[in-house]
Amino acid sequence: MPEKIIILDFGSQYTQLIARRVRELDVYCEIHPYNQIPELDEDVKGVILSGSPCSVREADAPQVDLSIFHGKYPLLGVCYGAQYIAREWGGDVLPSSTREYGRAQLQRIREGNPLFRGLTPGSQVWMSHGDTISSVPKGFELIASTDTVNVAAFQISGTNTYGIQFHPEVTHSLEGKKLLENFLVDICGCARNWTPYAFIESTIEELKRELGEDKVVLAISGGVDSSVAALLLHKAIGPRLHCIFVDNGLLRKNEFNDVLDSYQHMGLNIRGIDAKERFYTALAGITDPEKKRKAIGRVFIEVFDDAAHEIQDVKWLAQGTIYPDVIESVSVKGPSATIKSHHNVGGLPDFMKLKVVEPLKSLFKDEVREVGRSLGLDPAILERHPFPGPGLAIRILGEVTPEKVAILQEADAIYLNTLKETGWYHKVWQAGTVFLPVQAVGVMGDERTYENVVALRAVESLDGMTADWSHLPYELLARVSNEIINNVKGINRVVYDISSKPPATIEWE
Ligand code: XMP
Repeated sequence: MPEKIIILDFGSQYTQLIARRVRELDVYCEIHPYNQIPELDEDVKGVILSGSPCSVREADAPQVDLSIFHGKYPLLGVCYGAQYIAREWGGDVLPSSTREYGRAQLQRIREGNPLFRGLTPGSQVWMSHGDTISSVPKGFELIASTDTVNVAAFQISGTNTYGIQFHPEVTHSLEGKKLLENFLVDICGCARNWTPYAFIESTIEELKRELGEDKVVLAISGGVDSSVAALLLHKAIGPRLHCIFVDNGLLRKNEFNDVLDSYQHMGLNIRGIDAKERFYTALAGITDPEKKRKAIGRVFIEVFDDAAHEIQDVKWLAQGTIYPDVIESVSVKGPSATIKSHHNVGGLPDFMKLKVVEPLKSLFKDEVREVGRSLGLDPAILERHPFPGPGLAIRILGEVTPEKVAILQEADAIYLNTLKETGWYHKVWQAGTVFLPVQAVGVMGDERTYENVVALRAVESLDGMTADWSHLPYELLARVSNEIINNVKGINRVVYDISSKPPATIEWE
């Protein structure tokens, strides 16, 4: 295993961001809830205590026994973490006169302190706290302040325990990454050996050891996660990896064949299954979006299970679960919050009695892409927009029929091709067309028409949690609209969706 940093999560919205920054510095790290401290083996090089929505002054605030770490591992407390350390040593933490939220400048940086090596006086940092450390206990050294916060950073003298009131993981802390690098490299002594290549090498070795001569089955979707999981497993066990790609009749135009070809070129042992009719039959008469999702999920499991049973003696089910899915399941959302279970974790139907292997479960999305790139994954797959599992079914409002799917596929292909040709595909996070359940009057030549309407959707986003509608140029929209109305039989009107999330969602259903 590579050297690692343990991040103890007290429930801050920024905890994942700390982990991503650490990983960006080529150091492996793991997030653990504050009340589930993992075994601290020799690979652990240091510990970071996260922030928290709680106040250390509350009776039921998250608690941790710091003697487990202090003096044994370098320790960095961030915000709540820093306040917790100060208070445990007898310092005072009081409500701030006003809640501090926003930019501040570091002053009186202690010269020569290893945490601040290379940082400039006046360096901008990001504050977000309602409590302040009003006095530090004896034996604490003040190592930075701001105009309004005297104790912006401290060190317990002669030890490797530090606390900082600001958030170095947020990009508004302009030299935050440098500070984290100082902690990781100078204080923890990390060698920065976490790279895509190191991950690929060690994962392949591990998969070989774990899977031996066993057979593994994997459902691939054409998306990045399942494709990268497939490539890694293929490198480890070759044709003993059996990939299954299901055509649910709800994919984009030509997508099934294009993606299948691309996987076959990569040498994967893959079987494409045309199950369109089974899905259309199950969807007949259903208009409720959640019922559509359920029907599609149920048929998918049936189809996949039938196919998996045809593989003799298969022992494992591989899944493309990634790290945010895993941490979401255990993370602390406040001290008394219940643990949330994610659909990718433990969602295995009973009748598939297979062991689960998840080669990407320690990676963030951008790391999955890096690994995919290093493994030579087809750029067309690597850079694909996210596409929902239920596919076009949740972009056809109302009942799904094969005829509506065919119409929407044509319109969607025109839209996406135009985005690609004009260089806009890479500028937007996700784009697609929506088949509306209304008909509109139009005129073509001398004839009156009464046909369907499609909406174009394009959004900018980081993770799909929030999104802004993309300001596509009018010329581009005009071109797409003309092409769709002139070429796709059944559509006589095109509209553009200018809603952001929240309050709208990205998909219409
Ligand atoms: P919303 O519509 O919730 O979408 O703003 C956020 C992101 O999630 C995708 N999405 C889904 N993905 N199954 C999926 O696999 C679903 O049922 C589903 N619903 C929405 C959506 O495409 C967007 O990327």
